[in-house]
Amino acid sequence: MSHATFRVHVDPDKCQGHNRCYGVSPDLFELDDLGMSSEVGAGLVPVGLISQARLAVDNCPEHAISLTELTEAELSGAPEVNAEVQP
Ligand code: F3S
Repeated sequence: MSHATFRVHVDPDKCQGHNRCYGVSPDLFELDDLGMSSEVGAGLVPVGLISQARLAVDNCPEHAISLTELTEAELSGAPEVNAEVQP
């Protein structure tokens, strides 16, 4: 398991459904029935997928994807990525 240190977000007002994000990183993005993208879950990026996230940002022709580093406060309480949720 690894901690997330970045978060991706797709701006739904900018996304035009080019699907390049999903093409380079299907673990971080999901498409709706119209082909519009959104981040998976809360958009937390596992350390091993940061390069994929950057690739998605660079390849979106609409500049719809943002990649932000989590703040210290968020990091101190950052959830484990891929951790099993206990009921
Ligand atoms: Fe949308 Fe850009 Fe992906 S336009 S589908 S966020 S490549």
